[in-house]
Amino acid sequence: MEPARLTTDPAFAVALVDRRLFGSFVEHMGRCVYTGIFEPGHPAADAAGLRTDVLALTRELGVSLVRYPGGNFVSGYRWEDGTGPVGERPRRLDLAWRTVESNAFGLNEFMDWAGKAGVEPMMAVNLGTRGVAEAAELVEYCNVPGGTIAADLRRKHGVARPHDIRLWCLGNEMDGPWQTGSLTAYEYGRLASRAGHAMRKVDPTIELVACGSSNSAMPTFAAWEATVLELAYDQVDYLSLHQYFDPEKVDPASFRASAVDLDGFIDDVIATADHVRAKLRRGKRIKLALDEWNVWYQSRFTEPEDRPIAEEAPRLIEDDYTVTDAVVVGNLLISMLRHADRLTVGCQAQLANIIAPIRTEPGGPAWRQTIFHPFALTAALARGTVLRTAITAPLMSTGSYGDVPVVDAVAVHDEHRGELVLFAVNRGEQAVPLELDLRAFGGLAVAEHLTLTDQDPHARNSVAHPARVTPQRLAAPVIDGGRATVLLPPVSWHALRCTIPAAI
Ligand code: AHR
Repeated sequence: MEPARLTTDPAFAVALVDRRLFGSFVEHMGRCVYTGIFEPGHPAADAAGLRTDVLALTRELGVSLVRYPGGNFVSGYRWEDGTGPVGERPRRLDLAWRTVESNAFGLNEFMDWAGKAGVEPMMAVNLGTRGVAEAAELVEYCNVPGGTIAADLRRKHGVARPHDIRLWCLGNEMDGPWQTGSLTAYEYGRLASRAGHAMRKVDPTIELVACGSSNSAMPTFAAWEATVLELAYDQVDYLSLHQYFDPEKVDPASFRASAVDLDGFIDDVIATADHVRAKLRRGKRIKLALDEWNVWYQSRFTEPEDRPIAEEAPRLIEDDYTVTDAVVVGNLLISMLRHADRLTVGCQAQLANIIAPIRTEPGGPAWRQTIFHPFALTAALARGTVLRTAITAPLMSTGSYGDVPVVDAVAVHDEHRGELVLFAVNRGEQAVPLELDLRAFGGLAVAEHLTLTDQDPHARNSVAHPARVTPQRLAAPVIDGGRATVLLPPVSWHALRCTIPAAI
């Protein structure tokens, strides 16, 4: 195999890495909340019923921000149902997943969990079955110290200090026909603008995310973004993107090259947002929030309409992830970092059990899926400034994207700590030597070479074998005169942490 070649330079700065890129998502769906993060009576539960084993794994994952409470769930949700005395909360039919919502866990329980997990909340309002008034009241309940009806209700519920939530989603996937109360782009753009306006009257300091398309294959993609932004540009700070990658929907090479699709999607949304900016003659640039992304075996999913109404917390979309899925997740994170100048929020969907890095058994253990590892290592090591990389690599043929480079990579430079971290993947089925040219950094050395790969690309972790797949530490390659060669095994993800001597 011909080698791949990579060079980078401290001058190739893209942007500082925003910690919000390493977000996750907790939806009232299946077992994400119930028996996922919350299970009163579990041996590891604290006095509030929060699973401390899952809290510990969440912190280890390096999650910075968590979106809540949905997802499709939010579009039929009454946030008041999940507040006040637990014994008085209603049991309701959840319209999104056709399950029974007990409301035993709600807003204040989530904020307690978020504090213990050390994550920033990203709160979504219901713009499906509800509207401007309820969205503004929710901001009042959360962010006003006291002296008004909603703020005093929070105090009565035992939360004296405001939650002070900064980041808010104006609904969820409002373009999708499956969404409860879905809207046209015009209807949604007006509603998002009006709701955002009212929410900002309650708290002018909040940041607002408008719904972009549910995915790039939606027939209204790009036209939706353009119309929504033309109507709501001045009210919003972010536009959302959602994209899931199904290993069984495309040929294996296309799946391994999923980051090519994500790169194109992000570029197209940036172009659309900037078109509207030019048209409206505004100075502000809209930032991007990829607030749902992951690998999802979606073709195995049974639509809620095709299932009878289920009881509480059924096992829904509890995908078991392979080594290949983890390499794809690592590559999607590379794509996200590459766009760090515009993409500053990311939420892997979801955190526990539902297409998740963390799995649990009711009354039993919690464990790390394969996809846990590239996320945790990227979140831990990607500190500082993203640098553009120039890469040449052998090509691999894919059914969906034509010929694409077999190796993909990004670099992150932490000037203060004197570190350069290279994140790289080999998306092909043969080993590839990667030649590094890092002469621009002086006499650096590789301190650590971590990889996720396996002889069996289909290997998974399970409750019986929770550590079947873990990252491995390889012998660090020697850098000679700023150059080194690293062999990337087939279907592998890598983090190379280099230390840079302080300038004399
Ligand atoms: O994450 C699962 C679902 O996928 C979310 O509820 C929805 O927003 C998306 O379609």
